[in-house]
Amino acid sequence: MIEAPTIGVEGIYQASGHLSGFSDPLTSCKECKEVYRADHLIKHIIEVPDALSNEQIYKCIQENEIGCPECGGELSQVYEFNLMFKTMIGPGNKMTGYLRPETAQGMFINFPRLLRYFRDSLPFAAVQIGKSFRNEISPRQGVIRLREFTQAEAEIFIDPRDKSHPRFAEVADIKMRFYSQAAQERGEAEEMTFAKAVERGIVAHQALAYYVARTYQFLLAVGVAPDKLRFRQHQSDEMAHYAADCWDAEVFLDRLGWIEIVGVADRTDFDLKAHTSVSKVNLSVFVHYDQPVKRQKLVVKPDFKALGPRFKAKAKAVGEALKALSPEELKGSKANEMISLTVEGETIEIEPTLVSFESVEEEIRGEEVVPHVIEPSFGIDRIIYTVLDHSFYQDAVDGEPRAVLRFKSAVAPIEVAVLPLMDRKELSDTAKAILQELRTRGMRVDYDTSGSIGRRYRRNDEIGTPFAVTVDYDTLEQGTVTIRDRDSMQQVKVPRWQIADKLTALLCGLLKFQDAGDLVASGKKE
Ligand code: ATP
Ligand code: GLY
Repeated sequence: MIEAPTIGVEGIYQASGHLSGFSDPLTSCKECKEVYRADHLIKHIIEVPDALSNEQIYKCIQENEIGCPECGGELSQVYEFNLMFKTMIGPGNKMTGYLRPETAQGMFINFPRLLRYFRDSLPFAAVQIGKSFRNEISPRQGVIRLREFTQAEAEIFIDPRDKSHPRFAEVADIKMRFYSQAAQERGEAEEMTFAKAVERGIVAHQALAYYVARTYQFLLAVGVAPDKLRFRQHQSDEMAHYAADCWDAEVFLDRLGWIEIVGVADRTDFDLKAHTSVSKVNLSVFVHYDQPVKRQKLVVKPDFKALGPRFKAKAKAVGEALKALSPEELKGSKANEMISLTVEGETIEIEPTLVSFESVEEEIRGEEVVPHVIEPSFGIDRIIYTVLDHSFYQDAVDGEPRAVLRFKSAVAPIEVAVLPLMDRKELSDTAKAILQELRTRGMRVDYDTSGSIGRRYRRNDEIGTPFAVTVDYDTLEQGTVTIRDRDSMQQVKVPRWQIADKLTALLCGLLKFQDAGDLVASGKKE
């Protein structure tokens, strides 16, 4: 995990292509001058407008007689708007900088450090969580489209000659719905295992598929609804300027339709090569072969017997300069063409008869490669919004509405509410002892005495607390406590001394609620 600056000098974004290519298509109203994301205005007509050129978007606007959403006025030609926030760095406004539009570049420009840290060998990865900034033209969808938002990105640097993944077997049999480029043409996602998706070439290689699969598992684990989640492959003309393949995790939100929450891209060697070309810093890795490879190589053999008397003290340097020439090029030149050399600042002409060629065996231990990069890019704000949206439901208890956040235990802010039936010392002493015991186990626990027990259950349902422990007079007389399950509202009685173990097992999914103890309330009434 690294933390790079959020402001970067212009060269970074010149190299990364953001300066020239990180823009959105805009159109403005000729009457009221309001500005709109042109692609968003045709989203109800074209499912993936990102794949269209500005001319095509404008044609679609005209053909469908789309006017200004505010005043109905005529819309202008579509034009590009760069999304980066520009600033000046240091005194005197001498250096232009930009707020980062993605966290990724901080990891690319720190590649030499990362490589050293990982002892010069592939594969390795860096992760960064932090703010990214985009001058979004219409940030009017709450946390879905912010001008500063939180990204969690990983850059996984791999050997481009082998895009398999050593742990692919762990995800190979997972089934998922793939909305590939071809499936999008048919209009229906296709369910298959990750092994099949790679075998059929739907996902280009194991390395990309592995991180799509891990993203899928993560999203389900934090509570994204499986029936409202799909992975959509970018159309070839929709792809970001750096990507060779990209799969977006998209979720369905009732208010907004399908929204991207994570992108998993194969960025190839685009970024490292682009930074090398601007900074001139070598960003390759020397990869050792398992076994050295033997190869015949042609070398230049200067005729030192002739060079010695002719060039005297300089003969050695002349010989070395000849050896440094490409034998293939020398062989290809005309028979009578003089060889021109610069030695110690002096230009020297030599007859081609003074060199011969020899084939020698060389041992090659490895080669320089520029790593390829697989990048899962998580939008944290959108994921949190989705988890809230997909977890929320309402039902009724005793004719009263009940609002519930069906959070997975892993993301519930409070895992257990400890509730004495009444705020009396004999009950609260025991309840506080249980609270302490559960906290010692590392659980996120709350203690609540205010209002009726029903009201306290409702409050905890609303904030998504999976379990409540009720301490009543049975606790004092029989040594039992009640555990109440948020979703079913069922209650079981368990011995007080078992409470921490039972809750630990329930929270990590090792124990089903029905098996946790003796059922004492069916959940229909509270
Ligand atoms: P969109 O097409 O919706 O603008 P994008 O393709 O620009 O999204 P990416 O560039 O792939 O998004 O960014 C990676 C992730 O960062 C997205 O999956 C999303 O979750 C998040 N993200 C991007 N832009 C924003 C934003 N303006 N506000 C909140 N989250 C964002
Ligand atoms: N790093 C991917 C993106 O933000 O576009």
